[in-house]
Amino acid sequence: MTTLLITGGAGFIGSHVVRKMVMDHPDYRVLNLDQLTYAGNLENLKDIEDRPNYQFIRGDIVNEPFLEELFGRHQIDSVIHLAAESHVDRSIANPTAFINTNIVGTVNLLNACRQSWDGKKGKLFHHISTDEVYGSLGSEGLFREETPYDPRSPYSASKASSDHLVRAYHHTYGLPIVISNCSNNYGPNQFPEKLIPLAINNILHMKPIPIYGKGENVRDWLYVKDHATAIDLIFHQGTQGRTYNIGGLNEWKNIDLIRLLCRIMDQKLNREPGISEGLITFVKDRAGHDLRYAIDSTRIQNELGWKPLLTFEQGLTRTVDWYLENEEWMRRITSGAYQSYYDQQYGNR
Ligand code: NAD
Ligand code: DAU
Repeated sequence: MTTLLITGGAGFIGSHVVRKMVMDHPDYRVLNLDQLTYAGNLENLKDIEDRPNYQFIRGDIVNEPFLEELFGRHQIDSVIHLAAESHVDRSIANPTAFINTNIVGTVNLLNACRQSWDGKKGKLFHHISTDEVYGSLGSEGLFREETPYDPRSPYSASKASSDHLVRAYHHTYGLPIVISNCSNNYGPNQFPEKLIPLAINNILHMKPIPIYGKGENVRDWLYVKDHATAIDLIFHQGTQGRTYNIGGLNEWKNIDLIRLLCRIMDQKLNREPGISEGLITFVKDRAGHDLRYAIDSTRIQNELGWKPLLTFEQGLTRTVDWYLENEEWMRRITSGAYQSYYDQQYGNR
């Protein structure tokens, strides 16, 4: 049986990847390694937690002896690495946590793989990264795999650094790796510090929707399950040592996206058209706010036959429906209610 270690599997994207791997590949034993920070939530995986090919392990990738012990205890064949500090605003407020988890944590994992895989065949380290490593675009152009790196926030600098280290371990030590760089994800289970779930929560409770600057910044949005499908394809069929860009060809100015979301929410909540839009509030801009991200995903489309399945309207409507049906999830995660329970249940290593 192949043992696949997925890090960060209790987070937003990780939970969709874990579910896909557990359900679509019953011959894999899936280990979900997650420290359960504020962003990790095992409720995201309630539906699959009793599957015989799934196991949760609480642990910190910054803790080197713990990783050594983990790799000693399990014959790990491959890794899909998602664990990270992921929110740009938090990286501006506290860069150190991003350096520790995103850079040191990644190196610790690379070292553990290198030691345990030395000379063995059939291994793979799939590093999950972001389009933010390429910097910021003007009104024209797209990020390609060859676009030079130009990270501009502590978050993107930490992710760029981890990408370079993953590539360096491939070139220097021959570690079998693949990297994917994806655009903005949205969908069920996203922590409501990110734009879309934060806006849904505020609209629901008739609270102001904060829009940074003038709302002119552009992001390329992808439904999270389309990202999980792309990861599955790259993991199984991607070429070792290669990078794949993943994106939705779905660019939206923040203000236009929020206006669309307000229209959907007015309908769902039986509000008079325009009520939710009245909550839009322009606030101080994010420091160093990147203007525009947009991905050219030709490589994964041509080489691996991937394309996003949902239109933005479909994905956004599904997302709104999910949040409206899961108000308890939102209430519990925003109140930090899980943390003491997890500490009691799993210890805090
Ligand atoms: P998230 O913040 O929702 O989840 C991160 C998970 O990592 C959480 O479960 C957290 O508990 C865990 N974690 C954090 N520090 C840890 C540590 N030291 N040890 C073990 N586990 C730890 O993040 P997300 O949005 O799901 O992003 C997942 C990955 O995808 C990240 O690497 C991120 O850079 C990348 N990414 C995200 C997006 C996006 O739009 N969200 C887009 C492209 C790439
Ligand atoms: O591009 C991929 C990246 O997308 C991922 O690597 C990151 O992990 C993920 O957090 C995301 O980063 P962004 O900074 O683009 O996402 P966020 O949801 O924080 O913000 C989206 C846009 O909305 C951005 O231009 C900032 C703006 N914004 C955000 C918040 C939270 C607002 O205008 N108001 C807000 O309250």
